[in-house]
Amino acid sequence: MATTPSAPASMPGATLEHEGKSVTLPLLTGTEGETGIDIQALRARTGLVTFDPGYGNSGSCRSSVTFIDGERGILRYRGYQIEELAEKSSFLEVAWLLLHGELPTQAELDGFATEITHHTLLHESFRRFFEALPKDAHPMPVCAAAVAALATFYQESETDRSLHDAIVRLLAKTPTIAAYSYKHSIGQPFMYPDNRLDYASNFLYLMFATPAEAYAVDPVLAKAVDLLLILHADHEQNCSTSTVRMVGSSRANLFASISAGISALWGPLHGGANQQVVEMLERIEADGGDVQKFVDRAKDKKDNSRLMGFGHRVYKNYDPRAAILKKSCAQVLNQLGVRSRLLEIAMKLEEIALRDEYFIQHKLYPNVDFYSGIIYRALGIPVNMFTVMFTIGRMPGWIAQWVEMRRDPETRIARPRQIYVGPTQRAYVPIAARRSG
Ligand code: CMC
Repeated sequence: MATTPSAPASMPGATLEHEGKSVTLPLLTGTEGETGIDIQALRARTGLVTFDPGYGNSGSCRSSVTFIDGERGILRYRGYQIEELAEKSSFLEVAWLLLHGELPTQAELDGFATEITHHTLLHESFRRFFEALPKDAHPMPVCAAAVAALATFYQESETDRSLHDAIVRLLAKTPTIAAYSYKHSIGQPFMYPDNRLDYASNFLYLMFATPAEAYAVDPVLAKAVDLLLILHADHEQNCSTSTVRMVGSSRANLFASISAGISALWGPLHGGANQQVVEMLERIEADGGDVQKFVDRAKDKKDNSRLMGFGHRVYKNYDPRAAILKKSCAQVLNQLGVRSRLLEIAMKLEEIALRDEYFIQHKLYPNVDFYSGIIYRALGIPVNMFTVMFTIGRMPGWIAQWVEMRRDPETRIARPRQIYVGPTQRAYVPIAARRSG
């Protein structure tokens, strides 16, 4: 497991003046030159707190897992460029890298793959858990509930050994849970994992095989799934990862923390956007394919619609994952011999938006979700499973970030402050004396 990030030396600092007093706060600089003001002593020294809804200006931790330069469109896991990992690596190798901080040797990777492969089965009584849920349940809350329920099967107190086992179980069982949530929704029998298959192929087998006939996994599909998982594997302190860290900061166990992260990911502004993108493209198609009309609506502040799959809190440039996916989307569709009207609409939409003054000014570019849904669709993954695919991919990142948080001596229970704007003290009014309105 990777070691705790070493604290860069802090140096004096930014000076804040308030009510005639001045206080100098130390600066921290990371390995890529990012500088932050360390405000840990701010309230004690001045009585002030900071106000930063959405945390757009707040660093919540030091981390050595993932680096993003949103202005330049750079994403690196443990120092390795996403483009290089996408081309040369595999999802399990990336998972090892995120967890351990270094690329594995061949022996380490083989051992890791074997260990994961031998933990893919779910406890037999756990299979019945799915039957208790409604048939039309969205697979995301099913996954969140199932991952939380893993904590009821593995209740060991936390040691290095039990944590290792929990990590292996999460990585191994998430595709099984994901596929079962789908099988349950369509009323098909659950398949047992096939240990001869690699990670992505096994997932496709669990999703699409039935006991009635032989199912051969298409290597084009498996490679595309593996790539998508790599691209989703981590993304530093986004909403779901921050949730995982926040829940874990209370010393909640790994399963409970990750389950909370899955719920956060489900939201349409986060991982749920990939489903929203395809639904948006389908609406445009059903509406006669008038892309310009939709772009105009997305710009109109009186209209609620946004261009889903566009914009990002951190990227003010093309999301590098979207660039990789755009290329691979065309390749995969070509290899599968599929002509996608949705891809044509998406490309047209992108072209119009990137030339539009509003999108240029707001620095809105396609994000990872813009093209991922189109590939998922071509692979035969049902729309309500798109965010579940994101969940499988993000698992090693969430785990690496959780472990880093737990090993970091600077970790304290997450507990933000607020600026209270409610009523000041007032006397309780007996119910008979209250007036309505
Ligand atoms: N379409 C139209 N306008 C937009 C869009 C969009 N997709 N995204 C942002 N804006 C505008 C927004 O109206 C605001 O305009 P103004 O300053 O004139 O009021 C400005 O850009 C800033 O938007 P914001 O909501 O304050 O930005 P944010 O950093 O809080 O939100 C975001 C980032 C990703 C939630 C947002 O861009 C969005 O809603 N995008 C669509 C949903 C989406 O694709 N989400 C997936 C994100 S990538 C995968 C992941 O990490 O989960």
